[in-house]
Amino acid sequence: MRIGVLTGGGDCPGLNAAIRAVVRVAASANDDIIGFHHGWRGVVDGAASPLTTAETKGILQRGGTILGTARYHPDEHEGGTRAVLATVEQAGLHALIVLGGDGTLGSAKRLADAGVSIVGIPKTIDNDVSGTKRCIGFDTAMATAAEAIDRVQTTGESHDQLMVVEVMGRTTGWLAVCAGIAAGADAICLPEKPTDLDELAKAIQRRHDAGSSSSIVVVAEGALSQGPNGSSEGSAGTMVSTGLAERTGYETRLTVLGHIQRGGTPTAYDRLLATNFGVAAIEAVHSKAFGTMVSVVDEEVELVSLDDVAAGARQVPSTLLEVAGRLTVG
Ligand code: F6P
Repeated sequence: MRIGVLTGGGDCPGLNAAIRAVVRVAASANDDIIGFHHGWRGVVDGAASPLTTAETKGILQRGGTILGTARYHPDEHEGGTRAVLATVEQAGLHALIVLGGDGTLGSAKRLADAGVSIVGIPKTIDNDVSGTKRCIGFDTAMATAAEAIDRVQTTGESHDQLMVVEVMGRTTGWLAVCAGIAAGADAICLPEKPTDLDELAKAIQRRHDAGSSSSIVVVAEGALSQGPNGSSEGSAGTMVSTGLAERTGYETRLTVLGHIQRGGTPTAYDRLLATNFGVAAIEAVHSKAFGTMVSVVDEEVELVSLDDVAAGARQVPSTLLEVAGRLTVG
């Protein structure tokens, strides 16, 4: 078979491990793999090159994606869907394996409806693709964020400072809640629940009155979309750190982790997950199970419909929010 592969949306650690698995398993079945450059844009433009085991040698541990990526949705552009169908026809593709988050896989769903034979692979450090418990990249980002919070904590303790760490996550707080719990954060601000800065400041003050000289607050970037007066006053981390400094009078420092969370070497878990997803995607192509996405369901890799992705961002479950609530203040 001739199978195309693309990586779309924000990059993450583990994409190369998935590409490598796809190429290796395909090679053993005498399939040809065509790698499209920069996500859906490469399919629209016909920008692609053959991928063999030689090109994927040594990439298992490498962050990012050797194919490049872009936030581009062909179905949202005039003639985009037609261009994808034309490339699929011209390249003689039997299937397309699409690695993406909800945006890229949302386009995959609509292109599958338009007649393209697609199998999706979920990836995003946000871990919020509906239909799967795990996305490639989350474990690495969580470990990176937790380690960074640990480091910020020791310097905060030495200087008796209130430390605020902003992590990625615009619509869901998976990274903030999981890395925050893992690093023992004192408070976690999430898009899932409103942050009351007055209450948070009082809770932190109570902690300090009881003997703590430093606190660490983890903030998801989507935690506060507006300032306390309804106006936007910078990033969520800035709003929380300035808001808490004003209310408590404590010396406060803000660290924005940013793209450090998205780069670097994937953890062993992400390499394993990506490899399992890559193998399962090729198996799905061979059995012509199109319009599907490989997914983690009850710790097993299974196929779900691409329709599941359209359910919107997968929210942090209330059980996890409760665990965070029991271990933090505010
Ligand atoms: O890939 C998802 C994500 O990491 C979000 O958590 C974050 O809001 C966004 O990407 C940042 O992307 P960009 O670099 O395009 O601004």
